[in-house]
Amino acid sequence: MGLFWAVFFLALTHLSVASSPDCQDLVKPFMPENPKMVFGKWVYVMGAGEPKPYHKALESLKSSWVELSPTSDSQIVTLRWGDNCFNRCNLGEVNATVSGLATTFRKNLSDHKGHILQTCSDCLLWTDTFRNMDVTGRYMLQFTRTGKINPKDTEIFSKQLQCLNFPENYHSYDGKTELCPDDMESTN
Ligand SMILES: *[C@@H]1O[C@H](CO)[C@@H](O)[C@H](O)[C@H]1NC(C)=O
Ligand SMILES: *[C@@H]1O[C@H](CO)[C@@H](O)[C@H](O)[C@H]1NC(C)=O
Repeated sequence: MGLFWAVFFLALTHLSVASSPDCQDLVKPFMPENPKMVFGKWVYVMGAGEPKPYHKALESLKSSWVELSPTSDSQIVTLRWGDNCFNRCNLGEVNATVSGLATTFRKNLSDHKGHILQTCSDCLLWTDTFRNMDVTGRYMLQFTRTGKINPKDTEIFSKQLQCLNFPENYHSYDGKTELCPDDMESTN
């Protein structure tokens, strides 16, 4: 009897160590001490959305980059993007407001509020919820400097999706579709 309970409790403890504390660490909102770690250009590698139509929408995102730049106001970050969607490039720019760990901005009529998560080095992991009129949804998007990622880091991303209850059949950049030309770069 004593042994049974000991084993039972061991098993329980083991289970909880394997799952929840793990998730807590993996999805803790994060702000790097050195903001330079988030500034600059990032290439979309993979992502998931929720509910379904937003997850599906990522299928048509053939390539995407974002660029984050500081402004003279430490709470305002300029977000620029180039999305290759349905063989068209959508370039845009907004000022995002950083408040503590949360960042808010409006893109394509949707109000986004999100934060970054711990991820590999030279990687940026973003998750947000957005509202467009009475419609709400969530995204989780992984970026790297190069558009490539190590298989090991892909596994961690998968785990993070699970922790936050996103669809696990995430979409990935094919690594081939050209990035939308950046009009700011060509004028330099
Ligand atoms: C962002 O803020 C800067 C400085 O306040 C301003 O010059 C710029 O026009 C703003 N950009 C957008 C897209 O609102
Ligand atoms: C922008 O929003 C409109 C209307 O909500 C939607 O039809 C369109 O697909 C969105 N475009 C992008 C690039 O997300």
